[in-house]
Amino acid sequence: MWPAELKIRQGAIRPATVLAPMAGVTDTVFRRVIRSLGGCGLMMTEFTSAEGLTRHSARTLRYLYFDEDEHPIAAQIFGADHAVMASAAALIEDLGFDHADINLGCPVKKVVKCGGSGLLRDLPNLEKLLRAVRAAVRIPLTIKIRAGWDEKTIVAVEVARMAEQVGIEAIAIHPRTRMQGYSGRADWRLIASVKQAVGIPVIGNGDVATPQDAVKMVEETGCDAVMIGRAASSNPWIFRQIVDYVERGLYDEPSEMDRYTLLSRYFRSLMEAEMPDAVGKMKQFASLFTHGVRNGGELRYRVHRAHSGAEILDCVDAFFAKASASAE
Ligand SMILES: Cc1cc2nc3c(=O)[nH]c(=O)nc-3n(C[C@H](O)[C@H](O)[C@H](O)COP(=O)(O)O)c2cc1C
Repeated sequence: MWPAELKIRQGAIRPATVLAPMAGVTDTVFRRVIRSLGGCGLMMTEFTSAEGLTRHSARTLRYLYFDEDEHPIAAQIFGADHAVMASAAALIEDLGFDHADINLGCPVKKVVKCGGSGLLRDLPNLEKLLRAVRAAVRIPLTIKIRAGWDEKTIVAVEVARMAEQVGIEAIAIHPRTRMQGYSGRADWRLIASVKQAVGIPVIGNGDVATPQDAVKMVEETGCDAVMIGRAASSNPWIFRQIVDYVERGLYDEPSEMDRYTLLSRYFRSLMEAEMPDAVGKMKQFASLFTHGVRNGGELRYRVHRAHSGAEILDCVDAFFAKASASAE
């Protein structure tokens, strides 16, 4: 049965779907695109350095900008120093986020040295860290974990039990190990084991590419909500499609015109907001987003060679004008 809501403390999140945190992707502009298409219950920011945040670095604070219509929204932080993480979480609360989330999953070398999935290697230390952060905030505190460091040290269930004891209020699990990176398949059986082990909400994550996958994940694991990452950047309609699929058993695919409208709106917003690395983001998104588009390879090639946001927008406009002329 698809859950009617995800309940974190007293807050009911409807629908029970979550946009996964994705560094370089889920900035405020992208999140607002997702919000406007509907169907996504909870937004998450990109992960943010606790060190940068407590130094009040302008760049870090910019990462944490959000609009009122993004609520409910959780900010994710990473770091290893207990006091710094506690202060960063308190700042997250002051900035008006609904939840603070701790990243215990990032596999990137630079990050595991100072947090992320590196923290899964020393659970007594992790417990102290979680206690310190818990004591620093009143808003709900959540964590996002991987299965463990490697296949010999699968600690998700142990971490989940400990986290619940410490007062963590929801746990998202991406059941791959740090060493796996993104290879192989996410082992959803581990989501089911975590769900059986704790009373707090469990958010399942990993390899949901279609609404059918989302429903299957809930059926197979009993998770309280489904979190979607990569599929949201190639198909931002997926959250809406899940709602339709759950309610009616079917859903619409976006038309080429829908894709064009979204791409050009998103790119214009990135430029207007003067987002850092807007051109890089436009290139990355264009490449992910145009796989379902007829002759998308041609657009990807042109966008890749462009040097400015305006040039990329011209490519997009010209491509879709040509596509719609040839369809007439
Ligand atoms: C480009 C990219 C950036 C990511 N950044 C973060 C991050 O900042 N914090 C985090 O917890 N996970 C991050 N992840 C992992 C995702 O949140 C998610 O756990 C993973 O992609 C598996 O879900 P999916 O199969 O739905 O993509 C990132 C993943 C990708 C592809």
